[in-house]
Amino acid sequence: MTANRIIALGIAAVLISLGATAQDREIDEVTGFVKTGDWELVRANCIACHSSKLITQQRGSAAQWLTLIKWMQAKQNLWQFAPDVEEKIVAYLAENYAPQADRRRAALPPDQMPPNPYAPGLNPVNE
Ligand code: HEC
Repeated sequence: MTANRIIALGIAAVLISLGATAQDREIDEVTGFVKTGDWELVRANCIACHSSKLITQQRGSAAQWLTLIKWMQAKQNLWQFAPDVEEKIVAYLAENYAPQADRRRAALPPDQMPPNPYAPGLNPVNE
C-alpha cells in the first residue's frame, strides 16, 4: 500500500466517524436540546421561565440535576412533577448533559466553602 493510500484511508475513517457523531447527536434547532429519548418532556417543562441555553450550558449527574429541580420547585415556582415524569427528565439530563472532565468543575458543597466575607458580622467594613 502506498503512503498516499494510507493517508486517504485515514482521512476517510475520520470523516466517517465525524458523520456518525453528528448523527448520534441530532440537535433541535429551536432549543438546542439533543433530540433523543425524552427530550420533548424537557422542552415541555423546562423552558417556560428561562432560555434552554441555561440548561444546555449546564452539566451534572442525576443527583445534581435533581437537586437543581428541587431548588427551582422550592424557590422559583417550578411545578411538581409526577414521579415517572421527574425520573425521565432527570435521566435525559444526566445522560445528555453529564459532567465532563474538560468543563468547569461542580461548585463546592457549602460546608467546604470559605467564610463569606459579605456575611453580616464577618467584616467590619460591611457594618
Ligand atoms: C417556574 C419557572 C421555571 C421552570 C419551569 C424551570 N426553571 Fe430552571 N430556573 C428558574 C429560575 C428563576 C432560575 C434562576 C435564573 C437565574 O439565576 O437567572 C432557574 C435556573 C436554572 C438553571 C441554572 C442554575 C444555575 O446554577 O445557574 C438551570 C440549569 C435550570 N434552571 C434548569 C431547569 C430545568 C432542567 C428545568 C425543567 C425541569 C427548569 N429549569 C424549569 C425557573 C424555572
